[in-house]
Amino acid sequence: MCDALNEIFAAGLRKTAGDVKTVLANYLEHQDRIECSVAQDEDGRILGFQSLRYARLDNPYGTPEGWGIIGTHVSPRAARKGVGSALFRASHAAAKAYPVENIEAAIGADNQMGLAYYEAMGFCTHRTTEELTCKVYRIEA
Ligand SMILES: CC(C)(COP(=O)(O)OP(=O)(O)OC[C@H]1O[C@@H](n2cnc3c(N)ncnc32)[C@H](O)[C@@H]1OP(=O)(O)O)[C@@H](O)C(=O)NCCC(=O)NCCS
Repeated sequence: MCDALNEIFAAGLRKTAGDVKTVLANYLEHQDRIECSVAQDEDGRILGFQSLRYARLDNPYGTPEGWGIIGTHVSPRAARKGVGSALFRASHAAAKAYPVENIEAAIGADNQMGLAYYEAMGFCTHRTTEELTCKVYRIEA
């Protein structure tokens, strides 16, 4: 997972590199984790991952309490091959099972690929700040 983050960082698509401590704290061992799905190639290398967390009151993103918070990280070497779409199928199932009824993605307002990806997954913009565009996906009952 760190390698995937580092590959995204090296391509200039994220501000920080990956490190094990942060990956464990933010994705795998976070107390509000609902699911963290990974995609791997035939050699077991991680191509990307998607995190789904439960939004508590006062979460750092300002996401409404009780919603899901999603984050997606796919290595550029695997881009546009359906990895992000496959990850969202897993997160969608996890959100439905948990259940959360809404999933929010906070995307850099200038991140055209991130915006296009979440729109393709069915997310719609519901609030914006100067730096972020926050999109929501509403799970149908
Ligand atoms: C955005 C990201 C998650 C997309 O992952 P992916 O595995 O390439 O996505 P998919 O191949 O499943 O693409 C699904 C759809 O999203 C849209 N999409 C994805 N990348 C796109 C791009 N660069 N430009 C325009 N549309 C794009 C397309 O509609 C695409 O469908 P299509 O290929 O049939 O046209 C990935 O590029 C990534 O992790 N980028 C760096 C980090 C980031 O920006 N994360 C998300 C915002 S926080």
